[in-house]
Amino acid sequence: MSTTSDQGAGRVAVITGASSGIGEATARALAASGHRLALLARRGDRIRALADEVGNGAIAIEADVTDRDSISKAAARVKAELGGTDILVNNAGIMLLAPFTADGHDDHRRMIEANLLGAMTVTEVFLDQLRDGSGDLVNLSSVAGRTARPGNAVYAATKWGLNGWSEALRQELQPDVRVIVIEPGAVATELTDHITYPDAKHAAEQMYKQLAITADDIAEVIAFAVTRPQRMSLNEILVRPTAQA
Ligand SMILES: NC(=O)c1ccc[n+]([C@@H]2O[C@H](COP(=O)([O-])OP(=O)(O)OC[C@H]3O[C@@H](n4cnc5c(N)ncnc54)[C@H](OP(=O)(O)O)[C@@H]3O)[C@@H](O)[C@H]2O)c1
Repeated sequence: MSTTSDQGAGRVAVITGASSGIGEATARALAASGHRLALLARRGDRIRALADEVGNGAIAIEADVTDRDSISKAAARVKAELGGTDILVNNAGIMLLAPFTADGHDDHRRMIEANLLGAMTVTEVFLDQLRDGSGDLVNLSSVAGRTARPGNAVYAATKWGLNGWSEALRQELQPDVRVIVIEPGAVATELTDHITYPDAKHAAEQMYKQLAITADDIAEVIAFAVTRPQRMSLNEILVRPTAQA
């Protein structure tokens, strides 16, 4: 399967959450297919090192998806330094699994603000740039956007929300912008490191240890989707480890 086509070389991709996991792997995959990159995350040291590594004019921009000002500044830099945005990958996210109780209030807010409102804010700020050419909007949802389970209520709500929002955008933005929703199952990244509820963290780590696929597996799928000819659109892609229930 080739991930390159005439849709690749020279297009500018903005990736949120590029400092680890799927975002970092996607940066490497898109750089390999000739894309120019803007890498966004809060951990500036990581994205600066990655920008140096992938080269081809990649820029690193410290930005928090829950801080609209930092995203507006990032969009201005991308316009000035790379000429605009062809592909926006809304990847930044957190998964704070726990049974739903009042104790989880802070975690609930953090997930909604980063996963759902964050993606909306970044998209709203970059939308004019995406519409300028034939843009691609890639939203990182999850299997949890289709299957809710005990312990993932709010995380699932953010991903179900992302799916509904994406489907409306698909219809509103066609044919100027392709909307591509990626729904991974378990992928070995830093995602489980941030879970604050010990039992849920332990259970997730055990499950991931047994069957998780790699961030590169998902990055290849994203690179494939955005390099298809403009006439076609891979709108929703569900990718599970083969052994995942
Ligand atoms: N791993 C899985 O099993 C899996 C499965 C389905 C879906 N996903 C989704 O895939 C996406 C990427 O997750 P991952 O697995 O690669 O996890 P990860 O390794 O923890 O990466 C998450 C990224 O999001 C960034 N981020 C978090 N909050 C942010 C904020 N407020 N502002 C800016 N950046 C922020 C982090 O960067 P900084 O901390 O440096 O800001 C980091 O680069 C998430 O949306 C996740 O829900 C993952």
